[in-house]
Amino acid sequence: MWRLFGRAPAPFAAPTPWVDMHTHVLPGVDDGAATLAHALAMLHAAQAVGITHIIATAHYTERYAADAGCLDAAYASLCAQCAADGMTIAVTRGREVNFTDTHLAAVRSDARLCMPNGKFALIEAPEGLNAGAMIEGFFELSMAGIQPILAHPERSWTFQQQPAMLDKVRQHGVLLQVDAKSIMGNHGGAAKRLALDLLARDAVDMLSSDAHCPEDFTILQRACGVVQARYGAALAAQLVSGTPARLLP
Ligand SMILES: [Fe+2]
Repeated sequence: MWRLFGRAPAPFAAPTPWVDMHTHVLPGVDDGAATLAHALAMLHAAQAVGITHIIATAHYTERYAADAGCLDAAYASLCAQCAADGMTIAVTRGREVNFTDTHLAAVRSDARLCMPNGKFALIEAPEGLNAGAMIEGFFELSMAGIQPILAHPERSWTFQQQPAMLDKVRQHGVLLQVDAKSIMGNHGGAAKRLALDLLARDAVDMLSSDAHCPEDFTILQRACGVVQARYGAALAAQLVSGTPARLLP
């Protein structure tokens, strides 16, 4: 792929803090870490590349709807083992929420479905909705004092076909989060083209791993190197440090 960029980019200079705000590291609650050992391997991999803060955003969908007790137990076991291993990486909790009336209504009434400081919610990019319906759902979150973050819109067929819809939702205060794997081509050419187009237009607010396995953090590091090489170190740091740090407690 470096033919695209002429040569391999310089290694990414890890900022402090480095906040990976979209991950699936809680063990046994969704399609991410299956076991506590797997979750720990993910955190070790994240810390190894220089990530200082992880937000664990377990899916909140019809299929993955782990209740508070289950999430509390998974989080407690992970934090306890992190401490036992002498790890310094900080883990806090959010959710990645499906864009349905039911799920959005739940977010408006339950801060545990928001990002750690309760002021933002990570919403999975919907398919097949028109801009009006999308903006209405986001507007209702805003009226409840919650700023929406749209997760990986570049992977959505709807936005790939109609990228101008993203300009409309941004005008309504919605933040955009792009996946590292989209930048590196792992989600196909259309996702990569839209991710790079959004970056070129300075329309991306956060860059995250959306990690489901340890290797995904290395991919994030590489994607940060690409962003640094193409768009500058300041933007790369803003996407993984300056802006996502606003989500922390
Ligand atoms: Fe995710």
